[in-house]
Amino acid sequence: TGMFTYDPGFLSTASCQSTITYIDGDKGELLYRGHPIEQLAEQCDYLDTCYLLLKGELPNASQRDEFHQLVLKHTMVHEQMHFFMRGFRRDAHPMAVLTGLVGAMSAFYHENTDIHNAEHRDRAAIQLIAKMPTLVAMAYKYGKGEPYMYPKNHLSYAGNFLNMMFATPCEDYRVNPVIERAMDRIFILHADHEQNASTSTVRLCGSSGTNPFAAIAAGVACLWGPAHGGANEACLHMLEDIQKHGGLAKVGEFMEKVKDKNSGVRLMGFGHRVYKNYDPRAKLMQQTCNEVLTELGLEKDPLFALAKKVEQIALEDDYFVQRKLYPNVDFYSGIVQRAIGIPVKLFTGIFALARTVGWIAQLNEMIGDPEYKIGRPRQLYVGAPRRDVKL
Ligand code: CMC
Repeated sequence: TGMFTYDPGFLSTASCQSTITYIDGDKGELLYRGHPIEQLAEQCDYLDTCYLLLKGELPNASQRDEFHQLVLKHTMVHEQMHFFMRGFRRDAHPMAVLTGLVGAMSAFYHENTDIHNAEHRDRAAIQLIAKMPTLVAMAYKYGKGEPYMYPKNHLSYAGNFLNMMFATPCEDYRVNPVIERAMDRIFILHADHEQNASTSTVRLCGSSGTNPFAAIAAGVACLWGPAHGGANEACLHMLEDIQKHGGLAKVGEFMEKVKDKNSGVRLMGFGHRVYKNYDPRAKLMQQTCNEVLTELGLEKDPLFALAKKVEQIALEDDYFVQRKLYPNVDFYSGIVQRAIGIPVKLFTGIFALARTVGWIAQLNEMIGDPEYKIGRPRQLYVGAPRRDVKL
């Protein structure tokens, strides 16, 4: 009609103004509140990063301590959440369970649900950041039929998550500092990524004035898809599949299939809407992958060798070069998580855990924006013209 700009997939529409995350897709640069992701990954931990994303500045020593204490105080979930959990089939996908659990938080913590109240939002933010690791670990334990492990607040955020995942009532889990650091780095690298599909979902959902837990649950649901957060899971399945069908010798053949548009096969963990150069998170993830595999004596991990071969072919092949397809964060994160002992089905849940802070920061920014309105895209109607019902 000419009245609206038609922009499928929002390729050229900015849906908001934001001060949180900056991506330069051509340079392969990612900044949180102006700080390069490489420096944050080296010098800060995930909770520092959360503070930065939420408040705009890195914490000083006392702010850091106070924030850590505040998060730790909220790591346990309402005991009745355990009953809620029991309604799920044991073999349910953890992302299905997590979408339900996060949605249910608005029922368990209903005193915090006014999205227009900054104090409520702050409290909900802390509750979500603190409880997500507990919920993800619960989803894992439930699927295994093992008892839930309660959070242990003398551990770090990442260490506590690993302990809730891998300790059992009969056996302690010794947190290995290399693994703990790797887990923390996975969290940092996934903490925010400006207006991706799940973040846009959270903003759109929150724009109706719904409660913050519901808005975050919408983000979890969106993240699940294989074109978004589900890519790490899909990537690992892809590598396992190549391994099963001949391994390194078959990589070339597989890559031909990817290039054939009729095959419907995409190279998972490759390509990005914004990065048209190497994803800086993938670089850091590859480094972490090396560290973890060395620490665990898995340097010869066949999937890592496969991944490197796939990458090497892609970096030299015209199909990928012309389309500027490079590894994204998900390409190596699955290999790291698998080495740590995290089942593939849980990868996207861990992404959701880490991204929660980004979703909240974006939600807060939107609500605080004086120009904020309910999100209501328009459409170009191309259906039948008015016609009479004739039965
Ligand atoms: N394998 C093979 N070809 C690809 C791939 C891929 N992974 N990604 C894009 N292409 C091709 C695509 O076929 C198209 O070719 P042509 O121009 O000849 O039609 C061209 O590259 C542009 O692709 P597009 O689909 O128009 O690009 P997009 O910006 O809409 O999609 C993407 C971005 C990430 C959805 C896509 O690259 C993809 O599906 N990648 C695999 C899934 C994945 O790894 N997703 C994780 C993204 S990073 C983590 C996150 O934020 O969730």
